[in-house]
Amino acid sequence: GEWDLKILCMGAGYVGGPTMAVIAKQCPKIRVVVGDISQKQIDAWNTDDLPIYEPGLLEVVQECRHRNLFFSTDLDKEIDEADVIFISVNTPTKTKGIGAGAAANIKNCELCARHIAKIAKQSKIVVEKSTVPVRTAEAISRILRANEKGFEFQVLSNPEFLAEGTAIKDLMNPDRVLIGGPQTTEGLKAIETLVSVYANWVPREQILTTNLWSSELSKLVANAFLAQRVSSINSISALCEATGADVNEISRAVGMDDRIGKRFLQPSVGFGGSCFQKDILNLVYLCETYGLQACADYWRQVIQMNDFQKKRFSEGIVASMFNTVTGKKIAILGYAFKKDTGDVRETPSMFVVRDLLQENAKIHVYDPQVTRGDMWLEMDYTCGVNHDNTPGLDEAVTTSTDPYLACDGAHAVCILTEWDEFKTLDYKKIYDSMAKPAFLFDGRLLLDHKELRKIGFEVHAIGKPDPIKFPGSTI
Ligand code: NAD
Ligand code: UDX
Repeated sequence: GEWDLKILCMGAGYVGGPTMAVIAKQCPKIRVVVGDISQKQIDAWNTDDLPIYEPGLLEVVQECRHRNLFFSTDLDKEIDEADVIFISVNTPTKTKGIGAGAAANIKNCELCARHIAKIAKQSKIVVEKSTVPVRTAEAISRILRANEKGFEFQVLSNPEFLAEGTAIKDLMNPDRVLIGGPQTTEGLKAIETLVSVYANWVPREQILTTNLWSSELSKLVANAFLAQRVSSINSISALCEATGADVNEISRAVGMDDRIGKRFLQPSVGFGGSCFQKDILNLVYLCETYGLQACADYWRQVIQMNDFQKKRFSEGIVASMFNTVTGKKIAILGYAFKKDTGDVRETPSMFVVRDLLQENAKIHVYDPQVTRGDMWLEMDYTCGVNHDNTPGLDEAVTTSTDPYLACDGAHAVCILTEWDEFKTLDYKKIYDSMAKPAFLFDGRLLLDHKELRKIGFEVHAIGKPDPIKFPGSTI
């Protein structure tokens, strides 16, 4: 036919959309279809108002859409036509039943496998793109095999390492691509097919191939190690506040050791996002399943440290503000879990807002990308706080389209996402409009605290020496 290869991706979310857009961009002779069961999601992908915000994504989509990149809900037709099918559906932590609160729910992956088994009339390569527990490929294989009609499916694992906010950059120039598969003649052939797709733009030596279980587990381990670094530096931020040491100086001194490295040592109000906590819990549950309680406890501690950090931040706000924030206006600058995304899944801002709501503060949120609807959806899903069980919620939280309005008359300003635009706000103007003493809590170490203190702010920042407690120690 006219195409070298036909690819379908089931799941048009944060991973499926950008990943397939980049494959389409880099491989003009491959036909790429991104499919989803959600009509709303697919409709949005077919407009210029994409369902997710990711720098550079719209340009790539505009270049490829209707050329070799298509978005569709007609999964039956696309399954039938595809040579390679990626499964890139959500695999959230289970909320009830066996393993509730830890195990990943792979229901959606299984549904995809059953859908493929039902429709396919010839052999296909099925690729796990979703992050899954080790040995999920076996479950998928068995479902496919049990429904075979005289031909064989090959199941591969190809976990995704992109980070939100830098997805296009990460996909265009990945540190590595990982492909796991059965070490059989047919399996190795399928691996080679997928390698040749990525080889259109990724150097061969950066495309790693391995067996299925190592590939599945590597993904969980990569996220666990990254999150562990954040929890490690955050634990030290608490010690810095107690001793007068400066956490930035620690990151700098420790990170310059080549064996440790500089990245992921940025202290914060806590890590968020849809992956870190979910994937560590997934790892913890796996360890427990195999009777390795000590390993499970070891990794669970990374999450416990993160919970401690989030809690410590909101408690610090209340303690600094004379032990009460009741009726006080508090401005929250940044609600997304990191800059350059509108994603609010597991965002630390949500936990701070939840805690301040309990103290009856009046909260004003400004974030350049987050919608009020998404804020409430996630607050309900993760914190169980919604309009039905919390009267007055709508009045207690105002969302503002202007940072100066959010700060106007506030008793405190909290920086909770490291958006670049927060660095260049007119803080003198903000200070003048605030109630005094004007508190500023920097949960991202984003601002110039010396300058802010000169303006008159009382600044509290994670892991930084408090000049009241440690006079003369600020640098
Ligand atoms: P998402 O929720 O943004 O998208 C998942 C999509 O799958 C949704 O649009 C949903 O409607 C669709 N879907 C669900 N069941 C389906 C079915 N049976 N058929 C077709 N479509 C279906 O999720 P995401 O953030 O893109 O994550 C997807 C997977 O990738 C997860 O396993 C996640 O752990 C992993 N991952 C995510 C990231 C990230 O940064 N978000 C990074 C690496 C890996
Ligand atoms: C992460 C992994 O980085 C990525 O490889 C994987 O595919 C998906 O999970 P993501 O969650 O999108 O990506 O963002 P990431 O940049 O890892 O940040 C996660 C959280 O940690 C954010 O809340 C971020 O603010 C926080 N963080 C990160 C810190 O607090 N300090 C750091 O030094 C780095």
